[in-house]
Amino acid sequence: MAAVAELQNISLARGAPSLDIIAVDDLRAAADRAFANDPNAAFSYGTSAGHTRLVAWIAEKHSVAPEQVVATNGSMQADAFLFQQVVGAGDVVVVEAPTYDRTLLALRNLGAEVLAIPLEADGIDVEALAQALEGGARPKLAHIIPNFQNPAGYTLSLEKRTRLLELADRYGFLIFEDDPYVELRFEGEQLPTMLSLDEGRGRVVYASSYSKTVCPGIRVGYLVGPAELIASIRKLATGTYISPNMVAQSIVAEFCHSGAIERSIETVKEALRDRRDATASALERHIPDARFVKPQGGYFLWVDLPEGSDVAALDAASQERGVVFVKGTDFLIEGGESSLRIAYSAVPPDQIVEGIARVADAYRELAGATA
Ligand SMILES: Cc1ncc(COP(=O)(O)O)c(C=O)c1O
Repeated sequence: MAAVAELQNISLARGAPSLDIIAVDDLRAAADRAFANDPNAAFSYGTSAGHTRLVAWIAEKHSVAPEQVVATNGSMQADAFLFQQVVGAGDVVVVEAPTYDRTLLALRNLGAEVLAIPLEADGIDVEALAQALEGGARPKLAHIIPNFQNPAGYTLSLEKRTRLLELADRYGFLIFEDDPYVELRFEGEQLPTMLSLDEGRGRVVYASSYSKTVCPGIRVGYLVGPAELIASIRKLATGTYISPNMVAQSIVAEFCHSGAIERSIETVKEALRDRRDATASALERHIPDARFVKPQGGYFLWVDLPEGSDVAALDAASQERGVVFVKGTDFLIEGGESSLRIAYSAVPPDQIVEGIARVADAYRELAGATA
């Protein structure tokens, strides 16, 4: 029995909330109200802009006109529309190194030339970017995940936000502020979005999502940007799917307007703070070699092991012990062989501790084999 219990699979890979922290009852109530009070919008095609009441809520939240918003099926769809609209084959796009693996894939599929700029604990190395720009790089777009970055958990400082806007202005590129984790700050001061700092100058397109604060299955996200660009993306959306999922958006609109979203965010934040703490103390205790910056929010923590550590082998050995994480190499064009991403979102603290203990066991075994 002990062996069976030990083999329970533990995911430190999934960037998704576990079911126990999803507001199932509030979602059911929001769905009931949406179906009772909003059947015309919920059950029709709607328009590619998204559900009107949800678009209005998002516009108000970001102090923009509704014409500057498009609500999509998850923010991944928003990202894809933006890339499709703005990025052509051979165009240069700045990304953080490391960055979200699906961004890298999407840009690669479009034939973009990816310019990877190192990520530091306070965000992208803006001076390295400035040097690349001075050296002649002319990006169309810079993809930035400003808060509790995926995969590193780092947050872009206010100084760097301002500097990025200056660079965007000077060299004429668009900042894509990809911000699904913004609401999940456990401590420290909330920083202004680059969208708000830009004050309507049109240098920023902003994306966020309800996947991390409500649930990923609902598939609702959005883009905010210059009205002209959003109009062209709405056209692209019409040609792609006529309109996004109106049932889901009607439920989210009700969830937001009723205030249930605030409760949901509190629940997720409280649980994830404990999970982050469990991750950090388990790493300190079981893998003293691990180097990491404790994130101030979000879902992820990035671990650097001593140079020369073989994280691909560690991954295989951990999987034999029933634990999965994501290798650092998945988030980079080159490098990352001795790094990994731990997602602490998908399992409770006791499983995190058990999972990290098993990874530590695998690490010790591999260290012994090479000693
Ligand atoms: C940085 C970033 N952007 C976009 C997404 C896509 O989120 P969704 O399509 O669920 O809104 C994710 C999901 O993990 C993410 O981490």
